[in-house]
Amino acid sequence: MDATPTFPQYTVPMALLPNKRVLLGVSGGIAAYKSPDLVRRLREAGAEVRVLMTRAAMEFVTPLTFQAVSGHPVYSELLDEKAEAGMGHIELARWADLVLVAPATADTLARLAQGRADDLLAAACLARRGILAVAPAMNQAMWENPATRGNLRALESAGVTILGPGHGSQACGDEGAGRMLEPAEIAQRAAALFETGGLAGRHVVITAGPTFEPIDPVRGLTNRSSGTMGFAIAEAAVEAGARVTLVSGPVALAAPQRVDCLVRVETAMQMRDAVMAHMPDCDVFIAVAAVADYRPARALPRKIKKDAEQLSLELVRNPDIVAEVAALPRRPFTVGFAAETDQLEQNAQAKLVAKGLDLICANPVGPDTGFGDGATSLLLIDAQGQHPLPLDSKPRLARALVDYLARRLHEKEDSAQDPRSAHRQ
Ligand code: C5P
Repeated sequence: MDATPTFPQYTVPMALLPNKRVLLGVSGGIAAYKSPDLVRRLREAGAEVRVLMTRAAMEFVTPLTFQAVSGHPVYSELLDEKAEAGMGHIELARWADLVLVAPATADTLARLAQGRADDLLAAACLARRGILAVAPAMNQAMWENPATRGNLRALESAGVTILGPGHGSQACGDEGAGRMLEPAEIAQRAAALFETGGLAGRHVVITAGPTFEPIDPVRGLTNRSSGTMGFAIAEAAVEAGARVTLVSGPVALAAPQRVDCLVRVETAMQMRDAVMAHMPDCDVFIAVAAVADYRPARALPRKIKKDAEQLSLELVRNPDIVAEVAALPRRPFTVGFAAETDQLEQNAQAKLVAKGLDLICANPVGPDTGFGDGATSLLLIDAQGQHPLPLDSKPRLARALVDYLARRLHEKEDSAQDPRSAHRQ
């Protein structure tokens, strides 16, 4: 086998890992020469990639190569003062939505199966929060060895995904199972790990961002919502197999990939109309938008001059979109948000009842949490009780929320079909 790095020409695949953070662990096997190509494919699929190498891996490919293709410095030492001052090993492990070990040598599989933590790769796998997938690459006799089979069974039963290996000619001249899968296939299968299918075939309508209520042609009432959470939920719902309609107020975010329909609106009234137009076949409605409670009674046609010492604005109530949806005769599974600065639980619980929701996501808002890109936490409250989602990135919280609501939706539907449930109501 020719061990010279080659970068074959390929067409850019559809982005399947949008905004996913992938920590690629490279261990020391000849297949490591394909890993820089894997980095490129993951990035083309929309992922942010950081690379972690074992010492043995550096015998095959230089860290500089990975730095160039990933756009980030490469991590290699467990106890590295400089690295720990930046993103330490635990932080790095937690950062990743997916830890992907490719190639994973026989020795690496054995070490991961044992739960070792004596090098950076093993420690990162142990401390991860996201998915762990490994792409084995080794000589066919090593692959067939009962010791390796036992390690694989242990890893599989611990929830680790095994990608491959492929079958064919090997660097050592042998023929058989043990070749690392090709980078394109690994990237594709890595993306498929995020496709949960929990909302397959459902139509999900989501509101996001602030609304803007014009006062005159240049001014208006708005708020600090960035739309990040709503857009992340839209992405997570797509991954769960849903057809997604996203109704967004003015935000500076690009349309999420693969969202079926993005309706950009400005005011609460426009948002309400857009939402209602999509209600007839809606299965799940998620109200994430920070809708202005009031709007100016009249939007003035001319710019207001600052002549007067005092100025009064007459405001009128906006419709409560989520409450209107929840009151529809054929209502979707309805989810609301409660961004609160204090008495989070009580305020959210009160809104769950007052608005007639199936689920409410209480979101603490402080100087550093709540709005914008930063990490936040959610407390999900429904008739079953409370379900906390601890401090995490918004994309990851969005996926956890979508998983939870898909489970609740199925339970609700199952109990509606169960003839015994009629007696319970
Ligand atoms: O009452 P409050 O604004 O705190 O409730 C927040 C929840 O209600 C969010 O889910 C928000 O999207 C939704 N909402 C709405 N229409 C409004 C006000 C809030 O859909 N006019």
